[in-house]
Amino acid sequence: MNTNRVVIFDTTLRDGEQSPGAAMTREEKVRIARQLEKLGVDIIEAGFAAASAGDFDAIAEIAQTIKNSTVCSLSRAQEKDVRRAGEAIAAAPRKRIHTFIATSPLHMEYKLKMQPDAVIQAAVAAIKIAREYTDDIEFSCEDAFRSDIQFLAEICSAAIEAGATTLNIPDTVGYSIPSNTETFFRQLIAQTTGGEKVIWSAHCHNDLGLAVGNSLAALQGGARQVECAINGLGERAGNASLEEIVMALKTRHDLFGLETGIDTTQIVPTSKLVSTITGYPVQPNKAIVGANAFAHESGIHQDGVLKKRETYEIMSAESVGWSTNRLSLGKLSGRNAFRTKLAEIGIELNSEESLNAAFTRFKELADKKREIFDEDLHALVSDAIINPQEAFKYISLKIRTETGEAPIAEIVFTMNGEEKRSISEGSGPVDAVFKAIESIVQSGANLQLYSVNAVTAGTESQGEVTVRLSRDGHLVNGQGADTDVIVASAKAYLSALNKLHAGNHKIKAQGV
Ligand code: KIV
Ligand code: ZN
Repeated sequence: MNTNRVVIFDTTLRDGEQSPGAAMTREEKVRIARQLEKLGVDIIEAGFAAASAGDFDAIAEIAQTIKNSTVCSLSRAQEKDVRRAGEAIAAAPRKRIHTFIATSPLHMEYKLKMQPDAVIQAAVAAIKIAREYTDDIEFSCEDAFRSDIQFLAEICSAAIEAGATTLNIPDTVGYSIPSNTETFFRQLIAQTTGGEKVIWSAHCHNDLGLAVGNSLAALQGGARQVECAINGLGERAGNASLEEIVMALKTRHDLFGLETGIDTTQIVPTSKLVSTITGYPVQPNKAIVGANAFAHESGIHQDGVLKKRETYEIMSAESVGWSTNRLSLGKLSGRNAFRTKLAEIGIELNSEESLNAAFTRFKELADKKREIFDEDLHALVSDAIINPQEAFKYISLKIRTETGEAPIAEIVFTMNGEEKRSISEGSGPVDAVFKAIESIVQSGANLQLYSVNAVTAGTESQGEVTVRLSRDGHLVNGQGADTDVIVASAKAYLSALNKLHAGNHKIKAQGV
């Protein structure tokens, strides 16, 4: 389709969630979906409905919540999967089914064990079933860049005839390089019957660090949709990063002449939210959203920027939302202002009990910290607040540390409504807290990751801790925030235990 509008298809909640350990709860996915809508993404790939009951429920809730963006579910080219996808997105005002099958000789022979003709038939059948649920159908040729281009043209022509409206050409294993991607798209579009009637899409993985370059090259080759994820999350080395693609198109409009519907000032808040929820910190030197992306260290650069910002900056920090980290609320703000502010940043608490718990936490925080920013509010709305009925709840903590002595932690928490108190020593205060909790819970889980990040600048900042636990091959992330990082650690550990307790097993889209 010849247009200068690029469709931004965000897959943070689907491919992004396939980043090891980035599993999200239903509530977390809905929060991210709301923020993605605010960011202005055209399509939200909300999950893979057939993967698990948890995925299905999250997609269904997002479909009920999101009004402006199209809500999409992934599905293999199999009847059961397609129907699950159709049912999950049913409530959305705008809905898409994204069905896929592998097309490379390697995948067809070893993974699918199917002949090429059977692969075409499966794709056509899946698209026809998908059309019973919506007219907006995307078809993907998995591992397209290691597929025969003649075969791709054949299957894409059949897919268009069956009713696909978007044709996605994924670089599933991050194998292509930009010059190849551009010609590949050009040739494939020209060789496909009906190729001019549909939107062509790129979905590039970052195994060689070329996902963004390849996505931009695909646009130069005729694609008009890019699939991308916030902070470049995704399977293995990740997907193309949404923020980098969008800002490349905006900053080099002279070169591309292409537009997106993204409100770029929402980029940094979205990046922070996704990082908080997934427990994937953003590297400081990451383009656009890294803490140093607009920091100038060298004296010559500082001098230049002070004289004229454009000397060393090709875009402004404000244009990507660094300054939307504005003061949110103060100590004297009331409940209504608090509720309104939460809604404004995409947090909707569905019970008075949750709102009261969040408001109490806010008042406690306002006593300790003079300035409260949007990020603080995201961090304080923990799982315990969203789900007051959770099994493990933090009550209080005492820590004794002295140079040369083993630290001792005394923690009080509730387990299924019953108050528990436990004391333990550890090699450090965090270790002592985790041991004290485990001496009661005995979860059998292994600690996979422990990370601390400052929510905002300054020593007054809340520390936000992520704890990743594994048990029986199941990974969960727990988050906790507090101005005291040891308390934040205890909350994060209990939050991870709650997620393990809730259980949410799923199958993955790739390699199935
Ligand atoms: O990378 C890939 O091929 C995918 C498809 C399922 C679209 O994620
Ligand atoms: Zn992918």
